Amino acid sequence: MPDPQIGEVFGITFRQLEKIITDAYGVNISALKKPKRIKYWMPKNFTEETTTVWSYKQRGDWVTHDGRYRGNWSPYIPRNIILKYSKPGEIVLDFFVGGGTTAVEAKLLGRRCIAKDINPACIGLTKENLNFKPPTTLFDKYPIFEPKVYVGDARDLSEIENNSIDLICAHPPYAGIVHYPDSR
Ligand SMILES: C[S@@+](CC[C@H](N)C(=O)[O-])C[C@H]1O[C@@H](n2cnc3c(N)ncnc32)[C@H](O)[C@@H]1O
Repeated sequence: MPDPQIGEVFGITFRQLEKIITDAYGVNISALKKPKRIKYWMPKNFTEETTTVWSYKQRGDWVTHDGRYRGNWSPYIPRNIILKYSKPGEIVLDFFVGGGTTAVEAKLLGRRCIAKDINPACIGLTKENLNFKPPTTLFDKYPIFEPKVYVGDARDLSEIENNSIDLICAHPPYAGIVHYPDSR
């Protein structure tokens, strides 16, 4: 049954229902599966940061980036980190991948990526956000590697081979501020 119809049956508005679902899953799952129209593939007028203080008014809406995941970081942050601290083909690990911001940037920048999160809804959202094929004419500079995306706990990285990661690019949970549902 579609969400609006469930709302009608239980006598609550669609917005209230959406809030209940978002609180329960940590992700606005009503937005999942909505096809995204890609407006542009790269940030406009992007220049790498050269100081230690970074501040972004814009959240960034190139490729599949948007604010659907409430705890996301601005894609300008992983873009800068990945460009500064890794080379094309190297492996970037994000074990708090949330809505997939780091994985999307790693894919765009020709890095291999391991993307993990404890919340299965986040992994669903990450997979949705990675569902794009960059035009080769635009991306002949970098090879495209599909990130490896799976549910798992950052406290257990035993599946990852020792000394195999070139860069950890991860945005830790906001302890006590955002409620991350316990999926175990
Ligand atoms: C601040 S968010 C990361 C947001 C991400 N950078 C993005 O742009 O969407 C932190 C993430 O850590 C995940 N998380 C919390 N505890 C975890 C754990 N023990 N292992 C793996 N992921 C965890 C949460 O589900 C949440 O998605």
